[in-house]
Amino acid sequence: MSGYKTKLIVAAIDFGTTYSGYAYSFKDEYKKDPSKIFANNSWSDGTSMRTSKAPTVILFDNKGKFNSFGYDAETKYAELSEDEEHIGWKYFRCFKMKLYEKMNLRRKMMLSDDQGNRMPALDVFSEAIKYLKDHLMKKVQSRIEDIRDTDIHWVLTVPAIWHDGAKQFMKEAAAKAGIPEDQLTLALEPEAAAIYCKELMVSKAKEQNEEANLQIFDPGSQFIVLDLGGGTVDITVHEVQSDGTLKELHPPSGGPWGGTVVDKGIHKFLDELFGKDVMAEFKEESEYKVDDLDLQRTIELKKRKFKDDEDKVKLKLPVAMYEHFEGKTSTSFASTLPMTKFARSVTKKKDRLIIENDIFLQMFKNPKDCLVNHVENMLRKPALRKVKNIIMVGGFSESEIMKNAVKHAFPTKKIIVPDQPEIAVVTGMYMI
Ligand SMILES: Nc1ncnc2c1ncn2[C@@H]1O[C@H](COP(=O)(O)OP(=O)(O)OP(=O)(O)O)[C@@H](O)[C@H]1O
Ligand SMILES: [Mg+2]
Repeated sequence: MSGYKTKLIVAAIDFGTTYSGYAYSFKDEYKKDPSKIFANNSWSDGTSMRTSKAPTVILFDNKGKFNSFGYDAETKYAELSEDEEHIGWKYFRCFKMKLYEKMNLRRKMMLSDDQGNRMPALDVFSEAIKYLKDHLMKKVQSRIEDIRDTDIHWVLTVPAIWHDGAKQFMKEAAAKAGIPEDQLTLALEPEAAAIYCKELMVSKAKEQNEEANLQIFDPGSQFIVLDLGGGTVDITVHEVQSDGTLKELHPPSGGPWGGTVVDKGIHKFLDELFGKDVMAEFKEESEYKVDDLDLQRTIELKKRKFKDDEDKVKLKLPVAMYEHFEGKTSTSFASTLPMTKFARSVTKKKDRLIIENDIFLQMFKNPKDCLVNHVENMLRKPALRKVKNIIMVGGFSESEIMKNAVKHAFPTKKIIVPDQPEIAVVTGMYMI
């Protein structure tokens, strides 16, 4: 870890399944005040929504050259598709999952894109890392002009459950992106999150004289970190040692109960309303790609804003969706609605669906129940009896529904959700 001590800047990249981001700090500034870690909080999908990470989506042109990443890649590909100009371009989403699935990963592994075209996985990963690296460098250069590549030590996250082959692959991808091995540290995601919680929360608690939050990290104290991500929930349990370091009390565990389960539930609901065939065509036909992207972004926004006590959910759908339905079935959507199983729970007003709150709540049931059951079972273990604190990080921890579910299920525990839980991992990497 010598790089941390000698380099001017530490830069961390959190390469997530669904969203990716970065953070950086200047060594001298950070030494004086550990809260001086900067993330880019202004990724934008072109609407008013600003996020602290960008979707892990990458686009290459028809010659295989990198074109764009994140929201820009999503928009560009949808627009190209609408004009039938997307043929031969390569568009990759959710490709990080592939590294885990391929246990016997080889360096020559290929990934299939949206159109079924193949490209070496190493190129896809390295271009994505390079994009985030260059983006970060530009930010840093806006503060210090003459910064050089050699002034930076890089940290890159990897899931704790990854095998060595996948970790080696990440190192090679980073090298190809211009990060030499001696300037790189791989950090385990849940470990970074745990350290973030410990270090940053202690320094904040001291600053604000919050005695209660300080005690969470007293020697002997045990705490669970729940990292609620896009694909998975990752859970770790640590005990603070007398020298302040952390000891792992339980191997990392978890399951596929991340935020994308909710997206799938919403899509299933739309399938039931509009018909599976109508929805499948709407998603596949290139003329609708821009509308489909609008739909995905609307769903993301609704999911982020949804609360238990919301009266009804108003979901504004693309007009093209109703038109496609009506073209296929020769009936108006509004006239078929009373004949579906949602007759009493969904109504239509202009291009909006007005949906009973219960239907939306149902989408969170599976991730909520799976998480709560898993943690309940863990806490029954004698070794974990002393756990008093549960810390929630990851983007999906920002959901009111998930926060309340954990609070209600464990009323005797202290539940802590830091500000901006989705960047806890990236900020925690400094302290490793
Ligand atoms: N305010 C919010 N409310 C509800 N869900 C949210 C909110 N913000 C982000 N999410 C969801 O959290 C998930 C992304 O979380 P995060 O960025 O921690 O995941 P990731 O790092 O991409 O995934 P992983 O850690 O599994 O690789 C997405 O499903 C996203 O929709
Ligand atoms: Mg993550």
